[in-house]
Amino acid sequence: MKNKLRHFLDIDLVDTATVKNLLTLAHNLKKTDNVDIDMEQKILAMIFEKPSTRTRVSFEIGMKQMNGEVVILDQNDTQLGRGESIKDTIKVLSNYVDIIMYRGSSNQRLSEIVKNSTVPIINGLTDLSHPCQIMADLMTLEEKFDSLNKLKICWVGDGNNVCNSWIHACKHFKFKLNIATPQNFRPQKKELKKVTNCENKIEIFNNPTDAVSGADVIITDTWFSMGLEDKNNLSDFEGYQINKSLMNHAKSNAFFLHCLPAHRGQEVTDEVIDGSNSLVWEEAKNRLFVQKAILIWCLRMENKT
Ligand code: CP
Ligand code: NVA
Repeated sequence: MKNKLRHFLDIDLVDTATVKNLLTLAHNLKKTDNVDIDMEQKILAMIFEKPSTRTRVSFEIGMKQMNGEVVILDQNDTQLGRGESIKDTIKVLSNYVDIIMYRGSSNQRLSEIVKNSTVPIINGLTDLSHPCQIMADLMTLEEKFDSLNKLKICWVGDGNNVCNSWIHACKHFKFKLNIATPQNFRPQKKELKKVTNCENKIEIFNNPTDAVSGADVIITDTWFSMGLEDKNNLSDFEGYQINKSLMNHAKSNAFFLHCLPAHRGQEVTDEVIDGSNSLVWEEAKNRLFVQKAILIWCLRMENKT
């Protein structure tokens, strides 16, 4: 019987054992320098309907380091930009490549991709979520803490795609997740509902100072996500900047995470992002190992079953 395709679409859609195995694999890949993995010239196509630096480069380098190949499809350089449907595009691509990564806006489009693909699909960010990023964030915290289960993790800023993936991660870990956003930038109820049965507690705050109180980790992201820039104003986020004074309300050794790109002077000050408790560079570096682990898992390269 043919194996079911392994897509990596959202963290809450993957079982806990798989998330933990992927993280273990990513840690091992970092330690061993990937010497044992051979992608046997498998080909990854990456479709970009939004810009990217880290996701694009880490997937490309990751594939190449494992003896794989990459094809990039930027919206403007392909027939997608002239209106060819995503359905037709995916039907064709499925016959050329072994796996597809998609970065775009709508989850409806992502679902259409999955529906029409005969190869695994990876979500490289939509307006709704950014699961690859959170895998790297979890890996980065695992390098610093023996267990993530007892942590108080605090998200401050826009309740956006990255925030949603943190919410989804609650399905697999028991950490407490405090989320402080302005009233109009709360994460959507339907995302919170996806993890209502979890043992961990998600608490929503209006006041960032209350939310970060006693936190082990503070996380933020841009207030102007790609394609949604017109939705928000700087004034909406007054008081939500991660600066020294806000960090002082967290634990004295609290770490700082940001998926990047950062808008220095807006959601975070130079002092915090360049400070000794900032993990952002290791977080970005870990994208490479997590990407490789996800590719290996999706393509069943670890045991060829
Ligand atoms: N964090 C992240 O996904 O960065 P890019 O937009 O550069 O890929
Ligand atoms: N929330 C940001 C993440 C960028 C990696 C965006 O969607 O633009």
